[in-house]
Amino acid sequence: MGTAAGDVDERAPPVRFEELTRQTVPSPGGGDAAVSADWWRGATIYQVYPRSFADADGDGSGDLAGVRSRLGYLADLGVDAIWLTPWYPSPMADGGYDVADYRAIDPAFGDLAEAEGLIADAFAMGIRTIIDVVPNHVSSEHAWFRAAVAAGPGSPERDRFWFRDGRGPRGEQPPNGWTSNFGGGAWTRLTSPEGTPEQWYLHLFAPGQPDLNWDHPDVRREYQDILRFWFDRGVAGIRIDSAALLAKDPRLPDLPDGTPDAGAHPYVDRDELQDIYRGWRRIGDSYGGDRVLIGEIWLADVDRFVRYLRPDILHSAFNFDFMTAPWDARRLRRSIESTISAHAVVGAPPTWVLSNHDVTRPVTRYGRTDTAFAFDTKRFGTPTDLGLGTRRARAAALLAMALPGAYYLYQGDELGLPEVEELPLERLQDPMYARSGGVDPGRDGCRVPIPWSGDIPPYGFGAAGGRTWLPQPDDWGRYTVNAQLNDPDSMLSLHRDALRLRRDLPDLGDGALEWVRSEPEVIAFRRGPDLVCVTNLGTSPAHLPRHTGVWVTSRPMEGGRLPPDTTAWLRLRH
Ligand code: NOJ
Repeated sequence: MGTAAGDVDERAPPVRFEELTRQTVPSPGGGDAAVSADWWRGATIYQVYPRSFADADGDGSGDLAGVRSRLGYLADLGVDAIWLTPWYPSPMADGGYDVADYRAIDPAFGDLAEAEGLIADAFAMGIRTIIDVVPNHVSSEHAWFRAAVAAGPGSPERDRFWFRDGRGPRGEQPPNGWTSNFGGGAWTRLTSPEGTPEQWYLHLFAPGQPDLNWDHPDVRREYQDILRFWFDRGVAGIRIDSAALLAKDPRLPDLPDGTPDAGAHPYVDRDELQDIYRGWRRIGDSYGGDRVLIGEIWLADVDRFVRYLRPDILHSAFNFDFMTAPWDARRLRRSIESTISAHAVVGAPPTWVLSNHDVTRPVTRYGRTDTAFAFDTKRFGTPTDLGLGTRRARAAALLAMALPGAYYLYQGDELGLPEVEELPLERLQDPMYARSGGVDPGRDGCRVPIPWSGDIPPYGFGAAGGRTWLPQPDDWGRYTVNAQLNDPDSMLSLHRDALRLRRDLPDLGDGALEWVRSEPEVIAFRRGPDLVCVTNLGTSPAHLPRHTGVWVTSRPMEGGRLPPDTTAWLRLRH
């Protein structure tokens, strides 16, 4: 590791994105999808969790050849870009978010040539590729961390991380009281080869994910070089993992009682981050202006959130306020309003996200009494009405797709997959489950391999009769792509129809929204002269604004009214 910038050019000539962008990009929606610097502002971005998407080599785990083989499906679905969760060599202590080498591909997924082939194939079909970069921490198998452990206390190798002596007479207490995001303490104590307890190191996530010291110049240089490495290979964007956590107060103080002032938390949303990302932005911009930086930023304060989206910092960030909000008209309207007005201040387009590989699948979540999402409330055995949840998830998808900005779709949500809550406990892999002492079911339930065809596992995901890394339920035959493709009422058809419209109607995607007066339980807004989106979150059918036709609905109308838990895109012109 620690490759210097100069090493990169000595490798096999990378696929240059500049060469790719000279090609004409075919648009699945027809017309000329001209290569535009602003492509991301209103894009539909599909999240691929490669381990669970498609398994070409039949080992039960998805791979990049599998993704390549299904690009036609994604082009037909109408997506503009794919975001792949980490594909690097990893011991998989946290599903690949523990990266051992940022310039290679995990052999279980393929190799660098396969990744370059995927980027090029996707681009030829009009689909850009966004990858995940994890800067807050590396894997404990990363060369830097191994060197730091070997070099011992006080060594320069340890300065790239947060190593500290413990408190207490024998250093038996962790250096401070910070807790891991996955439960338990945020510090692990090393033991020397002779068996004596040694220093502690910081990990805001699992012990296999030591946090980097972003005050160290090596760390800053290394990530800038990693960005160049992947931009040189044609990636269109970088999703920045845990983007608000990198900078730490070097005194490592205990957390204050109550909420610290903005920017004063010892490790969340510190002001130093702005400069780090300003440097990244300069690198992105040096590639012709169409590469994007997308932050994974969990912040309750939307005004602090949009500071990361000023024109010289990141392009975009996931809007988790909308994603975690309950199925409640007032709460969702408030979220939409505050999101749009805060983004307008910095000139960035909002993003609309209903789920990802970390959260409960929408059809399950919206079918519960508590429809909000929070990490600390997940429990086994929560009663769920999947019929209700599915109706609401359909309505939520149409609502999110109609809002101004970019739309993120997590693999399998277009099939209406439920959270798999009956996984055998011994097959669970997420550290959240283990570190909660088995109280929190963790995130495996939304990461089960995708069903493509057939009536029995693995449903076309991989080799017939093969075992998948997480078992698929026996009743998933009805959720397969093949079972849904020709059913006009399926979740898949709804997504295909709406995403096609989202591409074809010029007023969808980036742009402005105009609120339309409605009953309190209804959310209604206009996008341009020819579309009104209406969502009924109430319990009785709702009146519709005057319209001339219907573009698409999540459920049939009832006597000219909009049923509960339904969204319609109405036409206004003849
Ligand atoms: C956010 C990722 O989405 C999640 O899956 C991961 O566990 C943490 N960051 C730590 O890398």
